[in-house]
Amino acid sequence: MDLVVRPGSVWAERVAGELAGRLAARPSLRICLPTGDTPVPVYDAVVALVADGACSFEGATVVLLDEWVGLPPGDPARCDTRIRAQLIDRLPAPPAAVHVIDADDPWPGAAAARHDVEARNLDLVVLGLGLNGHIGFNEPGSRPDDPTRLVRLAVSSREAAVARYGATRVPTAGITVGLARLLEAGECWLLVTGERKARILRRALEEPEGPDCPASYLRRHPRLTVFADEAAAGLLRR
Ligand code: GLP
Repeated sequence: MDLVVRPGSVWAERVAGELAGRLAARPSLRICLPTGDTPVPVYDAVVALVADGACSFEGATVVLLDEWVGLPPGDPARCDTRIRAQLIDRLPAPPAAVHVIDADDPWPGAAAARHDVEARNLDLVVLGLGLNGHIGFNEPGSRPDDPTRLVRLAVSSREAAVARYGATRVPTAGITVGLARLLEAGECWLLVTGERKARILRRALEEPEGPDCPASYLRRHPRLTVFADEAAAGLLRR
């Protein structure tokens, strides 16, 4: 595992620079991207790099990490709404493909199975960290061999939908790319910022792996890079 710690003032530029480098090296990059608040400054910085001509998403395939089930199309908390507004719609040339999750399918289990196919053969997965140790919607109790699937959301995730992301109703379920797909990707990045994530980051990286903290399984990935700002890394033994 590589641990990259930077001051908050330059953290996003560091991650964006790495991403631009991957895109430049492999224009057909197949990349899984998260929403949440953590990647927002990274997407801002990436959009600036694309505008400067440092890289392009034109040949890339973007696969969305997760989605709420039960929120109406266009809901501000929807992951497809957010990834379009924060990244996709700001690019001068769209990616070759964008695979969002069809959470409006009356059979969400079938939508999850279809997304599991898109989530194979990923070159890079970029992840945020939930305060309860979740990755995407791989909530506590998840296992490293879990496929992309329909999940019941933890109470804290339901509350976050409204309180943090402005959802118009409280979702109880989600669809997430499973840990199995994340662990088989070519490369895995975990993005963590802020003091409030310091304790769970220490749990994920320095205590025994286990289903109570799904992020702890990421240590099995042979090419895991953790990008943390100084506040989030504050409790790590380094
Ligand atoms: C959310 C999402 C995850 C996200 C994580 C951290 O609920 N399901 O995909 O990465 O929790 O969110 P944030 O970056 O807003 O702290």
